Amino acid sequence: MKYYITTPLYYVNDQPHIGHAYTNIAADAMARYKRLKGFDVFFLTGTDEHGQKIEREAQKRQIPAQTLANQMVEKYKSLWQMLSISYSRFIRTTEDRHKKTATHLFLTLLNKGDIYKGQYEGPYCTPCERFVSKDEKVCPDCRRPCEIISEETYFFGLSRYRDQLLSYIKENPNFILPSYRKNEMTNIISEELFDLSITRSTFSWGIPVPIHGAKDVMYVWFEALINYLTAVGYPDDKEMFERYWPADLHLVGKDILRFHTIIWPAMLIAGGLTPPKRVFGHGWWTINEEKMSKSKGNAIDPYEIINEFGADGFRYFLLREIAFGLDGDFSRKALIHRLNSDLANDLGNLFSRVMKMVESYAESKVPQEADGEHLKGLALNIANEIETEISELRFHSYLEKVWVLVREANKYVDQKKPWTLKGTTLNSTLYNLLESLRMLSIFLFPIMPNLSLKMLKCLGLCEKDLSLVDLKWGGLATGIRTRYTGPLFMRIS
Ligand code: MSP
Repeated sequence: MKYYITTPLYYVNDQPHIGHAYTNIAADAMARYKRLKGFDVFFLTGTDEHGQKIEREAQKRQIPAQTLANQMVEKYKSLWQMLSISYSRFIRTTEDRHKKTATHLFLTLLNKGDIYKGQYEGPYCTPCERFVSKDEKVCPDCRRPCEIISEETYFFGLSRYRDQLLSYIKENPNFILPSYRKNEMTNIISEELFDLSITRSTFSWGIPVPIHGAKDVMYVWFEALINYLTAVGYPDDKEMFERYWPADLHLVGKDILRFHTIIWPAMLIAGGLTPPKRVFGHGWWTINEEKMSKSKGNAIDPYEIINEFGADGFRYFLLREIAFGLDGDFSRKALIHRLNSDLANDLGNLFSRVMKMVESYAESKVPQEADGEHLKGLALNIANEIETEISELRFHSYLEKVWVLVREANKYVDQKKPWTLKGTTLNSTLYNLLESLRMLSIFLFPIMPNLSLKMLKCLGLCEKDLSLVDLKWGGLATGIRTRYTGPLFMRIS
């Protein structure tokens, strides 16, 4: 059982902001969940380093483009480390291996006649690195004015794949998610599918076009998409490629869904390869209802937030606050409120109460196993429900379901009043609560890995005890020593 999941490759013209962190946190949650389910997960992230936007930024800073890329790669890598992003491979489009794969696919399509020479004249948006249809004056994505470019270029015959794209979408109802974005993509394919200019001659920061005498470089999107093949060994490592391809999920923001659900599958079909199984376009975070941007200077620095609130709190907030496909507005007030009420109060209180009671009434040892009462059925039922939620990328409902167990376990303490109990009744009550905490630590691991490990450690367990394969009530062995090391999550004032 394999699971190949990817994030977009981030442009290296600037340092990461919370929008970039968002995709990687979601991908990490999914990757961790699948690992708990026993999948052989290949989780890819990386950087998109070519193109005019990066060349211009490097010129502005008076450094070579490769130096700029190297500096930004370090920022991305350190952010992913701070956020506990468990990627399998960090790919850079300036790697030789990627240049080789991109060149291979280019030549395959050229030899098939799917790439041909022509003249392009029309508007182009450099910040978005996209061609814009001829009658537009501003970029439909970012609303900035376009540059008019006129050059001899090579085209990819995208329009000839219209019918195959439409049937692929129809035959694979879960290919484009959320489902409300499917119509948007289908309309673009049906109404305005033009051949795509895939080479540029006015700048040089890119992969050279592999045609004798050509001085052009490949259009950045054309080659960047190919990274998903490079990373799994295409075309040389057949064993790896056959193991992981097609990708199970490309996670992307809604703005780049078009590239992944139209251009990319057409390139693959043209190259005789299978399109990805799913592409999910998530929503955008705004700041005071405005787009985050370098020019406005309003981008939220993820490093600051993590230093202040911790990686797990930040991960929890982003995935809990907003349904994954929708847009959301980021505010410190909402973040603090969410963390205090859910993590410090609900979960944190449950954890402290139970751990302290086990310390006082059971000599910090897991008591005799009990039948679980209603907490058992509830926990096992939640394990099934979260499977459905996460497979549709509804992280917020995943967490809502998990919180039903948090609340029920808290209610169970209030109703049972363990401090009034004795003997077997006391022991069973404490066992049921400890086992609920074990279940919670497993369910929460994909979203808050560090907090989950802390819970686990206090329960006398470790990371290898985390699994969702054959989950059963009663996994916590009697006699294990527990250790309460203080509050799980500090209240923020
Ligand atoms: N380099 C291309 C992707 C190539 S994939 C082969 C690119 N890079 S990007 O750095 O501009 O954006 C990367 C991702 O960040 C996109 O999925 C985009 O949607 C996401 N976000 C950028 N700003 C965002 C927010 N404000 N909120 C949420 N996600 C945002 O596009």
